Amino acid sequence: MGVGARTPIVAGNWKMNGALNASSDLVAALVAGVGEGGDAEMLLCPPFVYLDAAARWIESTPIALGAQDLASEVEPGAYTGEVAGAMLADVGCTHVIVGHSERRTLYGETDDQVVAKFRAAQSAGLVPILCVGETLAEREDADTAAVVTRQVGAVLDVLGVDALGEAVVAYEPVWAIGTGRTATPDQAQEVHALIRALIGAQSATIAGGLRILYGGSVKGANAAELFAREDIDGGLIGGASLDASEFLTIFHAASG
Ligand code: PGA
Repeated sequence: MGVGARTPIVAGNWKMNGALNASSDLVAALVAGVGEGGDAEMLLCPPFVYLDAAARWIESTPIALGAQDLASEVEPGAYTGEVAGAMLADVGCTHVIVGHSERRTLYGETDDQVVAKFRAAQSAGLVPILCVGETLAEREDADTAAVVTRQVGAVLDVLGVDALGEAVVAYEPVWAIGTGRTATPDQAQEVHALIRALIGAQSATIAGGLRILYGGSVKGANAAELFAREDIDGGLIGGASLDASEFLTIFHAASG
């Protein structure tokens, strides 16, 4: 597991999956299996409409709640279809994913919009989980470092390194998401170290405390070898987070 005092996080990104009854059963199984927590943090990110119910299902457990996206606007107003960070906090969220590659590629989110969402999250008291990662074409063109540097740099340039002090970063190579093709521990560690170094160039303290999660086809069978690497501080889990026993296996791989 990562160095020193970084408590690993295992976050479930349900994406647009689930239904009220099935999600209630899933969370009940996670509550039963999570134990006391402590060595790792478990975070669930259901679709917006289930957040309020999920907050009740996890009440008095060590499990935390996050959303998958939020509005870049902070003040309430005429933004049909948008959900403000303050509303997420209101129903019990502590975290929110920003800049997931599906938002970037399917919905055209730009680095500037991701930065605005990151800022909106923090202004609502939420911890943003900033997702970064290269596409297959970018990896094949040896552009991985440049892409990740640009995506992390967008936040550093606009908000400054201190903004990373209350944030989580998730490295999610796009070619590994939902494909069954996981980055090798070496490939992931290399990019995690690069991200930590980028931030470390501006603040060694913030870089040293930053949790950097790996995401992309993490499963019970490959989680332990990923989480064993120095700069991998847990995972952002999509498909495998919809299966309680699989997700608990991943969680226990992080909690040691
Ligand atoms: P996956 O998704 O685990 O299904 O690959 C990860 C993610 O997109 O966060």
